[in-house]
Amino acid sequence: MTPLPSNLLWVFENISPADQEKIITGWSQPRSIVSFRVNNLRSSRTEVIEELKKSALPYTVWAHWEDALYMEKEHEYALRGLEIYKTGKIYVQSLSSMIPVLCLDAQSGQKILDMTAAPGSKTTQIASMLGWKCSITALEKFGIRLEKLVHTIKLQGAEDCVEVIKIDATEIVSHYSKDEKGNKGAKMFDRILLDAPCSSDGRINLEDEKTYKWYSWEKSQSKSTIQYEMLEQARKMLTDNGRIVYSTCSISRRENEEVIQKFLKTHPEFHILPSPIAPDYTIEDNMNRWYPSPMMEGFFVGILEKG
Ligand SMILES: C[S@@+](CC[C@H](N)C(=O)[O-])C[C@H]1O[C@@H](n2cnc3c(N)ncnc32)[C@H](O)[C@@H]1O
Repeated sequence: MTPLPSNLLWVFENISPADQEKIITGWSQPRSIVSFRVNNLRSSRTEVIEELKKSALPYTVWAHWEDALYMEKEHEYALRGLEIYKTGKIYVQSLSSMIPVLCLDAQSGQKILDMTAAPGSKTTQIASMLGWKCSITALEKFGIRLEKLVHTIKLQGAEDCVEVIKIDATEIVSHYSKDEKGNKGAKMFDRILLDAPCSSDGRINLEDEKTYKWYSWEKSQSKSTIQYEMLEQARKMLTDNGRIVYSTCSISRRENEEVIQKFLKTHPEFHILPSPIAPDYTIEDNMNRWYPSPMMEGFFVGILEKG
């Protein structure tokens, strides 16, 4: 095995040697599947499965969620050529990326905030699961990313239930602190998804230098600072008994467990819930990490409940 680039050793801070091995193995194995989900706003599982059968594309339904399907990567080109893909009846999304929304336990009638939403995979997953009557606010700071978010929402047919706002997610409290009549704290959310910007070390492919050459302790540490700031903003926007799902495609403790541990120490009114989906490995206190593998990207989810 070629030696690991030295900058990547910073990912392993406070991670056991056995788990480091798992991560290195995952970084050495490219994903071998393409996964996608049914978009219930435009179609149904029955229609999608019929179309896949007609096209003779061999698929498997994911054991954790019946709306998620996958097939060997070699079929991706054919899948993306199908009408059901082009018309937004299905949405290509990694299995790990589907997990945070499955942990959100969002219900119709709740106010839902997706704090860092582009390109909209999870915003539209929530809409697909809840239907048109749901109420989602999707935030994004950057213009080009915002365009992608709007495009995804349109293609998936979710315009009527998603409000998109161009804003820095570290400043949402001041944005919502007054409504148009000047009332304080007018908008509170029952469910908040913070799929935070991260250093994406769960997606590293050791065969492809582009995926890791920029990585450094400083970059990861600065993400960690922003992630904590965003979590604080989420806390202030949450209703009593509300839930925040914090996720990243990082596998470092710095950007995950350590952010959440600091938060819980400062805010004992929160506790952490177990994930409804069994991870490869539960590190501690119900925080869940999925290591990269041929099926999954490396991913982290922590479910925080208030009250
Ligand atoms: C991990 S991606 C989100 C992926 C998205 N949840 C999905 O599943 O499609 C993080 C997003 O946060 C955005 N972002 C970064 N800093 C931000 C900030 N300060 N405020 C709002 N969005 C930000 C990035 O542009 C990026 O689109």
